[in-house]
Amino acid sequence: MSVLRIETGPDGVALVLYDVPGEAVNTLRHGFQEEFEAAFGRLAEDSAVKAILLASAKPDSFVAGADIEMLSRIKTAAEASALARGGQQAMQRLEDAGKRKPVVVAIHGAALGGGLELALACTYRIASDDRRTQLGQPEVQLGLIPGAGGTQRLPHLIGIAQALDLILTGKSVRAQKARKLGLVDEVVPKAILLEVARRRARELAAGELRIERGKVELKLPKLLRTEVLQQIALEDNPVGRKILFQQARKALLEKTRGHYPAPERALEAIRIGTEKGPEEGYRAEANFFGELVVSDVSRRLVEIFFATQALKKDTGVDDPSARPRKVEKVAMLGAGLMGAGIAYVTADAGIPVRLKDKDDAALGRGLKQIAGILDERARRKRLSPREREEKLALLTVTTDYSGIRNADVVIEAVFEDLSTKHAVVREVEREAPNAIFASNTSSIPIGLIAEAASRPQNVVGMHFFSPVHKMPLLEVIRGRSTGAESVATVVALGKRIGKTVIVVNDGPGFYTSRILAPYVNEAAFIFNDGAAVEDIDRALVDFGFPVGPMQLLDEVGIDVGSKVAHIMHEAFGARLAPPAGFEKLVESGRLGRKSKKGFYLYGESKEKEVDRTVYELTAQGQKRSSPTTGEIAERCVLQMVNEAAHCLGEGILRSARDGDVGAVFGLGWPPFRGGPFRYADSLGAAQVVERLRRYQEKFGVRFTPAPKLVQLAGSGGKFHQADVVKTR
Ligand code: NAI
Repeated sequence: MSVLRIETGPDGVALVLYDVPGEAVNTLRHGFQEEFEAAFGRLAEDSAVKAILLASAKPDSFVAGADIEMLSRIKTAAEASALARGGQQAMQRLEDAGKRKPVVVAIHGAALGGGLELALACTYRIASDDRRTQLGQPEVQLGLIPGAGGTQRLPHLIGIAQALDLILTGKSVRAQKARKLGLVDEVVPKAILLEVARRRARELAAGELRIERGKVELKLPKLLRTEVLQQIALEDNPVGRKILFQQARKALLEKTRGHYPAPERALEAIRIGTEKGPEEGYRAEANFFGELVVSDVSRRLVEIFFATQALKKDTGVDDPSARPRKVEKVAMLGAGLMGAGIAYVTADAGIPVRLKDKDDAALGRGLKQIAGILDERARRKRLSPREREEKLALLTVTTDYSGIRNADVVIEAVFEDLSTKHAVVREVEREAPNAIFASNTSSIPIGLIAEAASRPQNVVGMHFFSPVHKMPLLEVIRGRSTGAESVATVVALGKRIGKTVIVVNDGPGFYTSRILAPYVNEAAFIFNDGAAVEDIDRALVDFGFPVGPMQLLDEVGIDVGSKVAHIMHEAFGARLAPPAGFEKLVESGRLGRKSKKGFYLYGESKEKEVDRTVYELTAQGQKRSSPTTGEIAERCVLQMVNEAAHCLGEGILRSARDGDVGAVFGLGWPPFRGGPFRYADSLGAAQVVERLRRYQEKFGVRFTPAPKLVQLAGSGGKFHQADVVKTR
């Protein structure tokens, strides 16, 4: 399969177009090395060719990276290293061709991973100023490192510190920022990209354009900042570089807690290249790449990536004839914390929103919240003043139902109270009879809310997470009577506003809140039995959660946690009973951060410190004695895994895939552990059941293994049938 098309013009510029047949975006695939080496070898020899211009034939993508399915099929580290070696050689061939005649690359769209490495091997880089143009090395996000020379060429081009910043975080930058970093030489409007690139190719060939690259373009005031001066001093001498690498490693380990090997390896490959020269650097890069491709961490991250890709194509319903309705306008009821957040993300996606609340004061608070998010984005230059105005213009407000009649979807985020929800259902059916009614309730079953509706097929759940503009997950809930069209419509809407969407069936706590409840309960039991707050939180943070359960309770509100715990207890019985006496915390006014009184102190100090007076409310008082870190984490995590298995067994979840994605994107389940189902698969169901039974003997019914787990333990089966989920 050929991916290159070459057209040499009368001006001696050979236009090389990268075009993977039949795909919307370009990726680097098997066989590209051979084709590259042959093509650039030939062009370097061809006397009719004075210069080469490399570009993508796709309308809005340059090269998005290596084909990840190709990587996921690799079985051994040696095979993966060989692939990296091949990629490095192809890039080297490109760089060598550039020494004989200039190779200009025109970048429009994503130049990520292998795509950026391709650009780095060219002589001159010119990018379009379009927002779709993004440059970066996102490999670490899949547990990998750049494998086609990126760890060597990038630091060489933009300096070690800047390269570390890009490679270790995996973040991408837009064209203007890339220009400032020295990552591209020139930025022009998309309309003239190819024309200017061609001209630069001719000028370079004729010796009329000299490339002068400073290290990093630093403006004067910035130059005076000591850390920049320090950074330059550090990079330019061997002792300084050593310190730079040591500091980077320390900062990295604090962040990854040793769970993510890829950024550590990337750092090491860069260090080896800088200290021992490119040959050793390339060898290290290929070896590390090989080792990482087949590592468990990378496999888990790749599986999650595939799961999110598959979800993008999932309509959310099994009925292929169900089509989403076209959504041209959304009405949002309630301008509180959630309502304002949902209105913001909707307008941000370009959809007109009518926002309703009871009075002007409530609307004012909502608008202030929205303006705050927009201002922050404008300050970070993510949004131009014009874009800010355009988004705000999509938002109108009201204290009655005017302007809601023609809304296609009405989302409610009014108070969490069944009679209030019923009242709005009836009002909406009267005012906008055909609209789909989506509730953002966090705990009331959708079926109960729909009881007030005369058209219950239009009632569906859209459970967003707080803060709405930051949290990636949307949990759509299908009630007993919800129609497929309603589900498909809000799933499509959720995707349009940039969320990863899972669809679950109705039930107390739906999926995410339900599996969180026994996890938090277990932490509460451990606390009640005398463990220290910091030990509990540390155990789960060490496991890989962003925050521990006690801190989570402080953030969410201990009263909220307690309320949910009781709802779950009522619904599921003894298995979900919260520990006795926990409500004493709430009764004593300890609600968490919002009351400045929780498990932690909320004073002036920036240091996180446990409020030891909280221990006086427990039987053991100040005398604390914690189980081992391993036991704390295991007990809490097993609770979550077991409840997830209940959800799958009872049909709350459509698939294990959705359960993993929901936990990772909604609850901060450690991505490198793949989600509760992947985690259970990695241990084996028999092992999970055995551990649960051990705790069951000690602590009773709350550790009874879920029937689905017992069944898999018996059959030796797995939650995920295939080791790697395929997207096509
Ligand atoms: P909030 O108290 O900040 O906002 C509720 C808003 O609804 C208030 O501005 C109130 O004036 C308005 N309101 C009440 N009745 C109304 C009516 N009939 N028509 C129009 N507006 C009305 O509450 P929050 O936190 O935004 O929660 C809203 C909903 O979202 C609740 O159902 C809650 O369970 C759910 N939720 C909350 C999450 C959170 O983290 N706070 C997360 C996910 C869901």
